[in-house]
Amino acid sequence: MGKALVVYCTRAGGTKKIGELIAEGIRIEGGEADVANVTGIKKEADLDGYDGYLFGSPTYHGEMMQAMKTMLFLAEKANLEGKAGGSFGAFGWSGEAPGRIFDTMEHILKMDMVSGPLRLKSALLGGGTEMAQGYGREIGKKLSTS
Ligand SMILES: Cc1cc2nc3c(=O)[nH]c(=O)nc-3n(C[C@H](O)[C@H](O)[C@H](O)COP(=O)(O)O)c2cc1C
Repeated sequence: MGKALVVYCTRAGGTKKIGELIAEGIRIEGGEADVANVTGIKKEADLDGYDGYLFGSPTYHGEMMQAMKTMLFLAEKANLEGKAGGSFGAFGWSGEAPGRIFDTMEHILKMDMVSGPLRLKSALLGGGTEMAQGYGREIGKKLSTS
């Protein structure tokens, strides 16, 4: 069974919560999942040893947070080609960040991406918990077939 790393950045905690729920979904499907704050990913080796990766950032001023941009440059050097991938983030109204992360994972890192990015206004509202867990389950299924 595969193992995934969920890396989040956050200012107010919402994107962390979504990442934790995604990890739960992966575990429901029998996979293993570690959850890490982006501040703990400092070198390429910190990304070693996983079959799948989920990167998450909220949207501020139309962009992902700087720490996630820096981490994506690190990931470019970590050879994640062909690994399962997904992206996520909390947002208020426009929510550009998860899509930008998703596109980078697909086009630059050349990862095996799930259907699309997960954007949630809150993990606690309107079925958000189930959607985040469901996204994790989608990755979990990918891990079990890869
Ligand atoms: C100063 C500021 C700027 C923001 N800019 C955007 C934005 O451009 N687009 C958007 O969708 N949400 C925007 N938001 C809303 C945040 O994305 C939203 O509050 C999100 O839940 C924060 O996630 P976090 O708890 O992980 O930090 C902004 C919020 C603040 C406080």
